[in-house]
Amino acid sequence: MKNKNGVSMCLFSTKGGVGKTINTMNLAGICEHLDKSVLVIDFDLYTGDIATYANKKFKKDLYDLALDLDHHKYNGIINYVTKVDEYIDILPAPIDPRYSSKINHNYINKVIKDAKEEYDVVLCDTNHALNEISLSVLDSVDRCILVTTNDPLDIKSLSTIISIFKDNEYKNYKILLNNSRDPFKDYFTLFDIKKIIKHNIDYTLSNELYIKDIENYIMDGLIITLQTKFPTLYMKDYRVYLTMITDMLEGDKNE
Ligand SMILES: Nc1ncnc2c1ncn2[C@@H]1O[C@H](COP(=O)(O)OP(=O)(O)O)[C@@H](O)[C@H]1O
Ligand SMILES: [Mg+2]
Repeated sequence: MKNKNGVSMCLFSTKGGVGKTINTMNLAGICEHLDKSVLVIDFDLYTGDIATYANKKFKKDLYDLALDLDHHKYNGIINYVTKVDEYIDILPAPIDPRYSSKINHNYINKVIKDAKEEYDVVLCDTNHALNEISLSVLDSVDRCILVTTNDPLDIKSLSTIISIFKDNEYKNYKILLNNSRDPFKDYFTLFDIKKIIKHNIDYTLSNELYIKDIENYIMDGLIITLQTKFPTLYMKDYRVYLTMITDMLEGDKNE
């Protein structure tokens, strides 16, 4: 064990398609820029795409890990990860979704805790269902980023999850408004959104980050933030990503 004492974060929303997965990978790229080792864990157990986004074939996934925990054969998280590059590893969702329901949600806390001992940063991707898996991830991470777009239905669902968090006195969350998915949809101003959700917007990705041929990057396993020209071409959004990571690394200590 390296005993890194890392930090963990998940991206969550109760709506699919808002940009959780792509931004999880983009943030992993930012960790690399900051010289931080990072593990991306795919807790979107039934429809997880992290291995696809990284374009990586893998031998072990979360089901293998859970099975070994069941049979007392688990011998450290490092035996289940797949290397993407020098800084980034991934721990994929089960290759066969029929195995996903067999993963005991009580293991999630241990998986994240062990990962934090091996990596500077642990990023967890999630599914949009507010089920036991997502709840365990939310309970286990140091910080949750709630992701929304400017779409009325996404904002409605954000508003609901914020109320649920308030009811449960869950406070470890920040809000990311992702304007990059639908650059031509700006139904609400920032002021409107804050009024609707009765909460501040902590981070905003601009519509300039809309990438027309994003599927090509995904198919080729290219992490957008790691492309050479990214910091200059998308300077504003690069800074937002940097702030998200540095806030997590440093901010929590001061909160
Ligand atoms: N910056 C962007 N530019 C263009 N399309 C984007 C961008 N971010 C997200 N998208 C689109 O949104 C889709 C959903 O993103 P994804 O990260 O898979 O959402 P989620 O994980 O929340 O379901 C992507 O497949 C892509 O088509
Ligand atoms: Mg996803």
